[in-house]
Amino acid sequence: MQRGKDNENLCKYAYYHGFVIGAICTRIEPIPISSSTASFYDESISSVTETRSNPTTTTATTSTSESGKIIPSSSIPNKKRLYIMTLGVLAAYRGYGVGEQLVQSIIDYYEEGRKHSFQGQGTQDLAQVEEISLHVHTSNEGAIRFYVEKFGFQKGDIIRNYYTQRIEPPDCFLLYKKL
Ligand SMILES: CC(C)(COP(=O)(O)OP(=O)(O)OC[C@H]1O[C@@H](n2cnc3c(N)ncnc32)[C@H](O)[C@@H]1OP(=O)(O)O)[C@@H](O)C(=O)NCCC(=O)NCCS
Repeated sequence: MQRGKDNENLCKYAYYHGFVIGAICTRIEPIPISSSTASFYDESISSVTETRSNPTTTTATTSTSESGKIIPSSSIPNKKRLYIMTLGVLAAYRGYGVGEQLVQSIIDYYEEGRKHSFQGQGTQDLAQVEEISLHVHTSNEGAIRFYVEKFGFQKGDIIRNYYTQRIEPPDCFLLYKKL
């Protein structure tokens, strides 16, 4: 397994005899309040609500519209997720544990950071990470089984019309795992 050139810890490639046979690409991003995992973070969300009702304590979690109305942020403050943008293994190489190694390498990066109290270079964002998650097409039963059985991901609510281009049905599940 080798690291990708850009953001080397969050994107990884799997090689076989010098050829890329699989890849994973993740990013660290805020957790949207609309996410089906948001209920885990009730405390943070209620603190946003409190801030909203008291304009004098407005923080980065809110903004004010022209009419003076306080608008809540659309993400949970100070909490982030590792979001899996893509994961794929060439069909001929599936079922040999390559996908598992790719996902595990990302989780290991997080665990390593935690072991060292997120002291290393570029780990400030990682320190705020609370979960790993992804969207998966509702019909992709193999991938759902992969994440649930191999890693203990949970299946969130169905998200209707998530895909906007030529994918039928256009629906997905959010799969997530608390870290
Ligand atoms: C999902 C994917 C990355 C798994 O990669 P992999 O190298 O085959 O994964 P592993 O060998 O580590 O694990 C295989 C497990 O995945 C599950 N699985 C994945 N695809 C499956 C399929 N088509 N049918 C049955 N099980 C499947 C099974 O639980 C299997 O476990 P088993 O080997 O104990 O039976 C690969 O199937 C793939 O590239 N799929 C197409 C792209 C995709 O769906 N990506 C995920 C979308 S977010």
